[in-house]
Amino acid sequence: MDCTTEPQNITIDVHLSGETPANVQAELREGLTSTPRTLPTKYLYDDRGSELFEAICKLPEYYQTRTERHLLNQCADQIICLTEAEELVELGSGAATKTRVLLDAMARVEQLRFYVPFDVSEGIVRRVAQELVKEYEGLHVHGVVGDFLAHLEHIPDGGRRLVVILGGTIGNLDSQAALNFVSSIHTEMASGDFFLLGVQLETSIKRIEAAYNDSAGITAAFNKNILHVMQEMLGASLDPDAFEHVALYNTTAHRIEMRLRSKEAQHVQIPGLDLSFHLEKGEDILTEISTKYDHPRAETLLKESGFDMIKWYTDSEELIGLALARKP
Ligand code: SAH
Ligand code: AVI
Repeated sequence: MDCTTEPQNITIDVHLSGETPANVQAELREGLTSTPRTLPTKYLYDDRGSELFEAICKLPEYYQTRTERHLLNQCADQIICLTEAEELVELGSGAATKTRVLLDAMARVEQLRFYVPFDVSEGIVRRVAQELVKEYEGLHVHGVVGDFLAHLEHIPDGGRRLVVILGGTIGNLDSQAALNFVSSIHTEMASGDFFLLGVQLETSIKRIEAAYNDSAGITAAFNKNILHVMQEMLGASLDPDAFEHVALYNTTAHRIEMRLRSKEAQHVQIPGLDLSFHLEKGEDILTEISTKYDHPRAETLLKESGFDMIKWYTDSEELIGLALARKP
């Protein structure tokens, strides 16, 4: 692990190495040789991918971000009052824009001590740390750069904790992976600590599909960015122009499936994995799922992971749910 202690109340721990160690290669190889061929979603988020996601959050079609921000504005004070949190741990923190609503509520009652942004994207963790220590006097930011599916035990100790996942990031995991993940979060938390889980709710297919097929083409660029990441990381011969962005709702699985569809038959070579394969015209690589929940499915996930659900907040159109839970 790299650990940099910087001035101004910032500590950043890095648990990802810059190379492609054996486990990363094995994960990529397994995905690319399975049916359908798959790339792990976390590789969407290099610095450019994180910037593209920030641009997605501002799109008119992407209703999720503004709705969650509005909902947080309504319930943040109550959440902070109920949890008495003095440390906020955010998994998949990204640009931490909506997080400010919770940090403001903590600051209002003079409970804001620590913020722990945890993200796979190093650039954004460093940027957020710099921004927040300037915005909140006396705040200590202890960033963790790591994979939240592998490095949860590196969450630093702090005071009374509120762990949050916003933006519907939980939906990017399939149901078994989500259960394993939330159960691991439960294991890492102390009895009496709180967990706030943001979920995207099922709504009309038209509205959901429009959110992943925006007219400005930003989501398509975000999807194709994973091919740039594979080119840089592994020297892969994956030309973004040879693929089409596809995002369709799977009603049975309650999820958007985002794919890259090969426009022509092509031969792909990945020197970094010592792998080559043939892609048919119209063959897909699955890059992301985005599951839409409802209140019972969110509550079941929390219960099966060992949490008690205390509160359920939703907006007037029931597009976003925020579930506040406690480790008994
Ligand atoms: N919470 C923010 C960002 C959501 S985007 C919001 O609500 O807007 C999802 C974030 O999770 C990205 O910043 C991405 O880099 C991060 N992420 C995705 N997979 C991850 C993983 N396996 N481990 C850690 N972070 C991950
Ligand atoms: C971060 N995550 C919850 C987003 C989503 O809606 O699944 C990522 C995203 N992919 C395409 N657009 C946004």
